[in-house]
Amino acid sequence: MVKKAQKIIVAGGAGYIGSHVVVELLGAGRDVLIIDNFSNSHPEAINRITKLAPGNVELLERDLINPAHKNDIISAVKDFDADSAIHLAGLKAVGESVAEPVRYYETNIGSALTLLSALEAADANTIVFSSSATVYGELNQNPVDETGLTGATNPYGRTKLFIEDILKDLCASAPKWKAINLRYFNPVGAHPSGQIGEDPNGVPNNLFPFIAQVAVGRREKLSIFGDDYDTRDGTGVRDYIHVVDLARGHLAALDYLFAREENGAIDVNLGTGAGVSVLEAVAAFKRASNKDIPYQIAPRRDGDVAEIYADARLANELFNWRADKTIEDMCADHWRWQSNNPNGYKD
Ligand code: WQD
Repeated sequence: MVKKAQKIIVAGGAGYIGSHVVVELLGAGRDVLIIDNFSNSHPEAINRITKLAPGNVELLERDLINPAHKNDIISAVKDFDADSAIHLAGLKAVGESVAEPVRYYETNIGSALTLLSALEAADANTIVFSSSATVYGELNQNPVDETGLTGATNPYGRTKLFIEDILKDLCASAPKWKAINLRYFNPVGAHPSGQIGEDPNGVPNNLFPFIAQVAVGRREKLSIFGDDYDTRDGTGVRDYIHVVDLARGHLAALDYLFAREENGAIDVNLGTGAGVSVLEAVAAFKRASNKDIPYQIAPRRDGDVAEIYADARLANELFNWRADKTIEDMCADHWRWQSNNPNGYKD
């Protein structure tokens, strides 16, 4: 019988992507220990997870970078008898990372190091890491595959690259370690139940949460950052991927790694392979929500590239994963979440 991960630590499991990952793991009958400090997530997400996917889930509310919490974390991972981990804990706002680089390095790299110490102590040596397509520099041809040149343009992106490298060094240090760096393209959408979804603090930085808040009446209009790019309609093109497809990708990656004989760290893109422009995303959201999405054209945003989308073939070759959901599904599910929960989990 093929070996599968059974007892999985999910660091950052109450967050946007983490909550969807936990639902997939519980749905597949796996036991989960969530470690989260709720710094950018809400305990209500855990209640909703347990309703959507009854199963064995525990919560350890601790901060991975608080030295006073380290021993608790190490003991809890051991007591849980973890065999693997999915690491999604960290800060993720690009602009904030430029303003507060030290906090970003400290939090993101520190969290990863604490988790790795706890895994080492528990003799759990398989880890899937939440990396990002942001690690690709600006010089690649689309679609970008995993051999694309890396070179982050901001501290957030550099923390992702550093952690990828830490995992590569760790895997090179001892054959027991196995890791996959999942390079996400642009995760959007929500669980089709409308019960869990993205609940950003303050003004959303990303396109979909912003559009959704305009549609629900929380914001007046969207600013489209540039309409003079060399793309089919002049607006930026990205590879949006439904968060449920993304979540399934974590389970597929973890099971692949767990059964794999060879050690080492592998970089794997998770994207659809297709680009969607800002104007196309706005039009799709309008159709899904039946709401007007007023917008204005604003200057380009610093650091944005014109176009990036994934070569997603490696995930398919290695672990038979592909994204199934369309941009229509992404918009419909994102809208169901936003319209059911206009103020996120605070409702
Ligand atoms: C998408 C497109 C914008 C907002 C970022 C991070 C990346 C990752 C995901 C995660 C672009 C345009 C956006 C708005 C707009 N990080 N846009 N008006 O920049 O591809 O990726 O988020 O944790 O690391 O860099 O995603 O959603 O911000 O932007 O016109 O109000 O929408 O210019 O073309 P991006 P995004």
